[in-house]
Amino acid sequence: MQNLKSFQPAPDALKDRVILITGATDGIGKALAIACAKLGAQVIAHGRNQKKLEAVANLVTDSSTRPMALLPLDFEKAGPAEYEAMTDAIETNFGHLDGLVHNAAMLAERAPIEHHDVPKWLRAMHVNTNAPFILTRYCLPLLKKSADASIVFSSCDVATDARAHWGPYLVSKWANEGMMRMLADELSNTKVRVNSIDPGVTSTKIRLQAFPAENRDALAKPEEVINGYLFLLSSSSKGTTGQQLAGN
Ligand SMILES: NC(=O)c1ccc[n+]([C@@H]2O[C@H](COP(=O)([O-])OP(=O)(O)OC[C@H]3O[C@@H](n4cnc5c(N)ncnc54)[C@H](OP(=O)(O)O)[C@@H]3O)[C@@H](O)[C@H]2O)c1
Repeated sequence: MQNLKSFQPAPDALKDRVILITGATDGIGKALAIACAKLGAQVIAHGRNQKKLEAVANLVTDSSTRPMALLPLDFEKAGPAEYEAMTDAIETNFGHLDGLVHNAAMLAERAPIEHHDVPKWLRAMHVNTNAPFILTRYCLPLLKKSADASIVFSSCDVATDARAHWGPYLVSKWANEGMMRMLADELSNTKVRVNSIDPGVTSTKIRLQAFPAENRDALAKPEEVINGYLFLLSSSSKGTTGQQLAGN
């Protein structure tokens, strides 16, 4: 797996690129949204909480950066019609998409298979795997309008190294790897590349839920793990597709 921690984007690496980031209200997605805006992108920040979205947008105060567009949608509750309305709004406002980052996810229960609550399992699979599918399905026409588009899935070490009790989080990450590879093959004759990236252990809400007793100060901060994402979203990664990469 190629490690992209040392990638350094040029100050205008994402100039004028229209990039949709899911789960931009916290953790890695929030750090990535801010970094993309500072590198010149038109960021479309997705989240389920309007107030948190506004707070993230307000963190980018530099007058030379474009204001973020905000897309509130709860992946647990939304149906296809809401995704379609969301992509219609992107088309009306921006005409196309250059980047789509499937970052939002929930950890869900960690337990032996026979102890899992079925509705909770289905909810996690819906947020972590069905939502990236539905969003990709509706965004593809907009991505195909770009001269250089990039779809990025969030991977995790549990997607290469299966281990007990990780429940729907692990299964959804394996499913997303399969979706990434299938999509890369389907789009191999287009200008849309598709990859996944494992940010590595990062101090965020999901990590805290998984390992509550861990010393958070010893972990990487979200701002320290995003260079790989910036590589995949910039033209530097042209020609890279179907790859599972490491960001830290
Ligand atoms: N942290 C790590 O060590 C690590 C390691 C490997 C991979 N990853 C991956 O990195 C990605 C980002 O995770 P993170 O660590 O930054 O965690 P995080 O801070 O908990 O961020 C998760 C994001 O997903 C959003 N989200 C959760 N459920 C949602 C729903 N139903 N609808 C819409 N949005 C929803 C959250 O929204 P709210 O702000 O409203 O909660 C938040 O913005 C995930 O795909 C994760 O699997 C993380």
